[in-house]
Amino acid sequence: MEVICKAKAFQRTCEEARQKGKSVGFVPTMGALHAGHLALIDALRACGCTGIAVSIFVNPLQFGPGEDLDRYPRTLDADLEACKSRGVDWVFVPSVEEMYPAGFSTKVRVEGLSEGLEGRFRPGHFEGVATVVAKLFALVGPCRAAFGRKDYQQLRLVERLVEDLAFPIEIVPVRTVREADGLAMSSRNRYLSPEERKRATGIVRGLRAAVEAFEKGERLAKSLEALARAPVEASFDAIDYVAVVDPKSLQPIDRIEEKALLAVAARIGQTRLIDNVVLGEERLL
Ligand code: PAJ
Repeated sequence: MEVICKAKAFQRTCEEARQKGKSVGFVPTMGALHAGHLALIDALRACGCTGIAVSIFVNPLQFGPGEDLDRYPRTLDADLEACKSRGVDWVFVPSVEEMYPAGFSTKVRVEGLSEGLEGRFRPGHFEGVATVVAKLFALVGPCRAAFGRKDYQQLRLVERLVEDLAFPIEIVPVRTVREADGLAMSSRNRYLSPEERKRATGIVRGLRAAVEAFEKGERLAKSLEALARAPVEASFDAIDYVAVVDPKSLQPIDRIEEKALLAVAARIGQTRLIDNVVLGEERLL
C-alpha cells in the first residue's frame, strides 16, 4: 500500500493504474475510519474495482465556525492499518495547504439539494463538501466512487454534481452500517460518553417506529415524523429536524406515494448525530 501526500503524485498514480488496466475505485473520507468506511471499500471491490484509493482529509471548508473541526478525531496510524488490512492500494493524505494552496478561490455550490435539512443548520457545509469532492474527483479521474447512505443528502448532492459537471465517475451508494444496537456508525460516536452512547439509540428507535407504522399503512408525513420524533425527544438534548422528504428532490412532502426519506439530526451534549431511512425501501432490523 502506498501513502501519497502530494496531489500531482496522486493524480499520476491513478492515471498510471488505469493505463495498466486497473479499474479504479475511490473512497473519500475524513479518517477516523470505522466499519462504515470499510464497507465502502468492500462495495467497490464487489463491483469489480481492481485498484482502490482512499483519501483521508479533514476538510476545513465544510466545517462552520463553532463546529468540531479542531476536535475532529484524527487517528492516522490506525486508519492506515485498517486500509492495509482491507487491501487498499493507495491512500491519499494531503495537507490543507496541498488541497488549498495560497490563491485557491474556486467554490462549488449545488443549488436546491444543498438548501434543506443539513443545509439549514450547517450553512456553507455543502459548498465545502462539493468543492473538496470536485477537486478529489479531478485528481482521481475516471473511477467508481463509493458514498454512504448514512449521509443521504451528501450522496444525492454528489450524484447531482457528477451529472451536472460531467465527471467521468460512477457513484456507488452503500447502505448504512450500524452497531449491534442499531446506532449508525460515525466518527463522531467517539465523542459520546458511555451514558450519552446509551441515549444515542433514540434516533434509530425513532426511525424504527416510523418504519413499523409505514409498513402498517401510515402514509402521512406529519404522523410518521411525530412517531420518529418521540424517542429522540426523550433521549437527546436538542432536535435540529425530523423530516419526511421526497427521496430524490429532498423537498418536504405531505403524503408518501411510494418512497420517502425520513431524516433526523439531533444533539446530545456537544455531539451532533444524523441518521435516516428510506421508507418503502429499507427495513431497520
Ligand atoms: P466521512 O464522514 O469520513 O465519511 C466518508 C464516507 O463514509 C461518506 O460517504 C459517508 O457517507 C460514509 N459513511 C460514514 N458512516 C457510514 C456508515 N455508518 N455506513 C455507511 N457509510 C458511512 O462524508 C465525509 O467524510 C466527507 O463529507 C467527505 C465526503 C469525505 C468530503 O470531505
